[in-house]
Amino acid sequence: MSSALLARQAWNPETDELDLARLYPALQTYCPIVHDLSPQQALFLLLDCREGFYGGAAGGGKTWALLAAALQYVDVPGYAALLLRRTFPQLSQPGQLIATSKEWLGPTDAVWNEQQKEWRFPSGAVLKFGHVKDENAVFNYQGGAYHYIGWDELTQFTPSQFEYVSFSRQRRDLRMQELGVPIRVRAAANPGGIGHAWVKKRFLDQRSPSTVFIPAKAADNPGLDVADYIENSLSHLGDILRRQLLDGDWGAFEGAAFHKFDPAVHVVPRFELPSSWERFESVDPGINNPTAWLAWAVDHEGNLLVFDSVYTDEGEGLPSKVAPRVLARRELWASTVAHTDPSAWNRSGGLNRWGLPASLATEYEDAGVQLSPANNDPRAGYARLRELLEPDPRRLYPDWHPRAREPGAPRLFIIGETCPELVEQLPAAPLQPIEKRLAGEIIDPDWESAYGHAVASARYGAMSRPDASDLPAGPPPEPRTVAGVEENRRRVSDRSRYQY
Ligand SMILES: Nc1ncnc2c1ncn2[C@@H]1O[C@H](COP(=O)(O)OP(=O)(O)O)[C@@H](O)[C@H]1O
Ligand SMILES: [Mg+2]
Repeated sequence: MSSALLARQAWNPETDELDLARLYPALQTYCPIVHDLSPQQALFLLLDCREGFYGGAAGGGKTWALLAAALQYVDVPGYAALLLRRTFPQLSQPGQLIATSKEWLGPTDAVWNEQQKEWRFPSGAVLKFGHVKDENAVFNYQGGAYHYIGWDELTQFTPSQFEYVSFSRQRRDLRMQELGVPIRVRAAANPGGIGHAWVKKRFLDQRSPSTVFIPAKAADNPGLDVADYIENSLSHLGDILRRQLLDGDWGAFEGAAFHKFDPAVHVVPRFELPSSWERFESVDPGINNPTAWLAWAVDHEGNLLVFDSVYTDEGEGLPSKVAPRVLARRELWASTVAHTDPSAWNRSGGLNRWGLPASLATEYEDAGVQLSPANNDPRAGYARLRELLEPDPRRLYPDWHPRAREPGAPRLFIIGETCPELVEQLPAAPLQPIEKRLAGEIIDPDWESAYGHAVASARYGAMSRPDASDLPAGPPPEPRTVAGVEENRRRVSDRSRYQY
């Protein structure tokens, strides 16, 4: 049945209002706010799709919506619902899921089991609370056992946790189907946080047609005095954080490492590179994690261009598998060496074919791919990338850029079509949270090792101190262009401005 049809059935003609208790009698008994739901919350409960996401804005009523949705069918024998947070304290804090459930269900005939962290209803239905503290903890929850799985603050989970629990072992439950109980996966989150990028991609940018996204703002929550809430709790926050929490803005986020990254500036269409541009590569090698291999070129003015990439899937990073792909591309790339993290030379325990201690680097060398150790200092690498991406009012865009010769160019560009992961990861990269910082700003290492392989690779490449390529000998083909090039070259050879 469609949500519109459901909504029609829930409409109370006498009061001229939506009354979800007409459709879901369990809510009448177990959800004290059933008559005070905000329009967003009501719609969330009426969704009949498999996946639904309630996104954006603190105080948007997300936690309450997830709990209310879990209770919709607790009068059906055999119904089971699971509500998840990343950590146990997040579940049990005042105002959060468990405490709210105790307020709602404490006065009813539902019975709380502290050991199991679950409510049992007279019908036999169960509502369980769980947390997923690491990747192994997902095995505690076999998705197929639940008809409803609700994820609160989804950005704190990893995509594999979400997928494993939500979609593993789904079984068809014909009896429940006959009783009209849908199989539902529901999630809610504010923008920002470590999983911002994957959640945005899955539920906003590349949402499947059958998934529904409900934007929620603090202003939509009937229980909040919005003016007060903004005045007292949000007014001291930074601008981006406030926009994110208040408006549920998924575009900007506080703590973005590369907030100056702008696809209109840094991403360029594909074009044929002059053979006189020097080439090199960078790589963040992973065996179980993705391997991110980037091909770079330097033009005659010192602009850097990431022009191609090889990005492996998880678990496809063995040097014996990656090396042939890189070697095949190197003919196109016309490059010979890849800069990488010196940890690639750490001994892996085995021996190479010459009987010498093996490492990731020696394995690549054996496979015919040469690596070179790069500066892997995270602070210096981050600062260099920031500087390369920073628009400089005195610098002209190169002739091969759509904005050719306009002032205000940065020094690092990316061909988006062939390097999609780098284009996706740069704007998604978060800074290390302030409370964890020892000294100076760096990209959040937890994010980088989980999601930021192309960004790590770009750090190694940017740290390899590339100089402008020498102009080719012989008569220049286009005097007008070359005059500009010469002029720009003179400017960038003024190294003091770039502090190499
Ligand atoms: N439908 C509602 N009616 C009345 N008060 C509500 C309603 N939904 C939420 N609230 C109030 O707003 C506060 C924030 O709701 P919550 O679900 O925790 O928001 P979020 O999880 O989006 O931050 C709750 O503590 C509650 O007091
Ligand atoms: Mg909440």
